[in-house]
Amino acid sequence: MRTRSLIFTLGLCCIASLASPTQIVLGTSLIEQFELQPLPRRLHGRFLHITDIHPDPFYVPGASQSSACHRPNLKDNRPAGYYGAPYSSCDSPFSLTNFTLDFLDEHWTSEIDFVIWTGDNARHDNDDDIPRPLDEIYDLNRAVAKKMEHVFLRKGIPVVPSLGNNDIWPHNRLSAGPNKIFEEFSEIWSAFIPPTSSASFHQGAYFSTEIIPDAVAAISINTMYFYKKNHAVGGCDYANPKDPGNIHLDWLEEQLEAFRSRQMQVWITGHVPPSETNYFPECYYRFVELNLRFQDTILGNLYGHLNVDHFSFLEADEIDMSSRTSSGGTLFETLIADFAEIPEPLEDTHYDNYAVVNVNAAIVPNPYIPSFRIFTYNTTGLSGFVKDVGSNPYLQTVKATQRRRALNHEQVRGFKKPKCERKKYRNTWRCQFEKPRHSDSKSPSRRNSLWSPLGFAQFYMPRLAEFDQIHDPEFELEYMTFPLSHLHPDEEAQNITDHQYVIPLRLLPEELRLPGAVESEYTPYELNDLTIPSWLDLATRLTKNKKLRLRFKEFMYMGGVEE
Ligand SMILES: *[C@@H]1O[C@H](CO)[C@@H](O)[C@H](O)[C@H]1NC(C)=O
Ligand SMILES: *[C@@H]1O[C@H](CO)[C@@H](O)[C@H](O)[C@H]1NC(C)=O
Ligand SMILES: *[C@@H]1O[C@H](CO)[C@@H](O)[C@H](O)[C@H]1NC(C)=O
Repeated sequence: MRTRSLIFTLGLCCIASLASPTQIVLGTSLIEQFELQPLPRRLHGRFLHITDIHPDPFYVPGASQSSACHRPNLKDNRPAGYYGAPYSSCDSPFSLTNFTLDFLDEHWTSEIDFVIWTGDNARHDNDDDIPRPLDEIYDLNRAVAKKMEHVFLRKGIPVVPSLGNNDIWPHNRLSAGPNKIFEEFSEIWSAFIPPTSSASFHQGAYFSTEIIPDAVAAISINTMYFYKKNHAVGGCDYANPKDPGNIHLDWLEEQLEAFRSRQMQVWITGHVPPSETNYFPECYYRFVELNLRFQDTILGNLYGHLNVDHFSFLEADEIDMSSRTSSGGTLFETLIADFAEIPEPLEDTHYDNYAVVNVNAAIVPNPYIPSFRIFTYNTTGLSGFVKDVGSNPYLQTVKATQRRRALNHEQVRGFKKPKCERKKYRNTWRCQFEKPRHSDSKSPSRRNSLWSPLGFAQFYMPRLAEFDQIHDPEFELEYMTFPLSHLHPDEEAQNITDHQYVIPLRLLPEELRLPGAVESEYTPYELNDLTIPSWLDLATRLTKNKKLRLRFKEFMYMGGVEE
């Protein structure tokens, strides 16, 4: 009886909330409060990565791009479209924000297990006539967070947010917590941050969450403490253990230790991608070292911010002080130059020296076009419901094997430190790294096994300018990392009823829905999985194969200009 009347109350709440969206209160907190569980979910082996939505409440269709799409100017020959201005410096109209989340709701919520959402949910500060008060930034973040709760969390799909450089004011400037900003975000994101992470969140807006209990966690880092443009912090100087960046990295190390000791695997997620260009050098070296030291625990790194689809590596060379500093070219040129340095042939021991960074394209059509990414990962051998995964017998067997390997096969690899005798280097982080590195050629980041990322499909909106009140927008497949042959079950497969498709066929373009195609423009990379060896193989192929390199570049800039 009690349950029935509660469902009735919830029904009323939702009808009321349709009329007045500001009253949507149905988050996990309410679900927990009434002990109502979302329907039991099965694992699909897929997740969504979405980033840089940048909704702008002042966006006016028909306005000029020179006014940040805020005011009309008759001389402008590319007025702002109804769903956004492609390849512009404008932010997203709410029509695009809403359409995107409604689209994901309709087509993807029944196909994914969790959502990685890497920041920047407010407009840019790009219009002197309309300054950006902190309250507006909170309101925009609140609006998107409510929508995320409604679309995903309410259906039991965990959402992992992280703080972007435009989610604060002034942008790029963030000092140590606790502060008013973290207090506000802990409220805005209260449905997403587990109570066990409340303390770390108040301290520095970072937290971790078990997206698949006892099996896979996401660690949401606050990249603002590592970001070179943030002049409110010290940049992780070795001599300054109280620097917020150092405190953050101490915490990250503890998290990785703790998850590793439980044979769990983690995704690291954040806004600004780690690179020598973006991070303070000392923060960057510490971050690289942690990624290599916990290579057997980290599945990968997921970021946004640059709005350019690409990948890069964190490399032992950078800590060894033996790498050349990259030349000042475009991002594309820098990446290809870096890939060309990868030694060949690669052997098992070399793979110890790399971690992979995935940077996703943005929803905001600035400077390219809206795009999101669906990752597929290995859940072979598991069946049943998400909440029971932790006690799944197959998972227990895998963990027991991992535990044995961790005890017997600990890799002890140090870094070369040629310059540490010199006074200039003695008190730097690179001369302090002494701890053994946990790498294992059989870990999921190295070899396709339980939880390994298998591939992704990138969806985009190439015809954005054509859509209006009459013509509904469409997301289309841009490309996939999988080989064509992975889209359909093997010909010998005995029973295709329970076949787990890498991407559901109904969400693929028509030409890919039937088996038998031997070639497709959609599958240029043909990666069997997204382990470190596979990414290094792609990187070296990109340096040698001009046609493939041009495709890679095309995916980075999506038909726009290289910035
Ligand atoms: C977007 O959705 C929000 C809440 O769901 C609603 O209040 C708003 O009017 C919508 N805006 C547009 C332009 O569709
Ligand atoms: C997942 O990993 C196992 C090895 O642990 C492998 O046998 C299986 O083929 C992988 N699944 C997929 C879909 O690649
Ligand atoms: C195929 O798999 C489904 C789902 O697991 C099962 O219900 C069905 O009995 C299987 N059919 C055969 C012929 O094995």
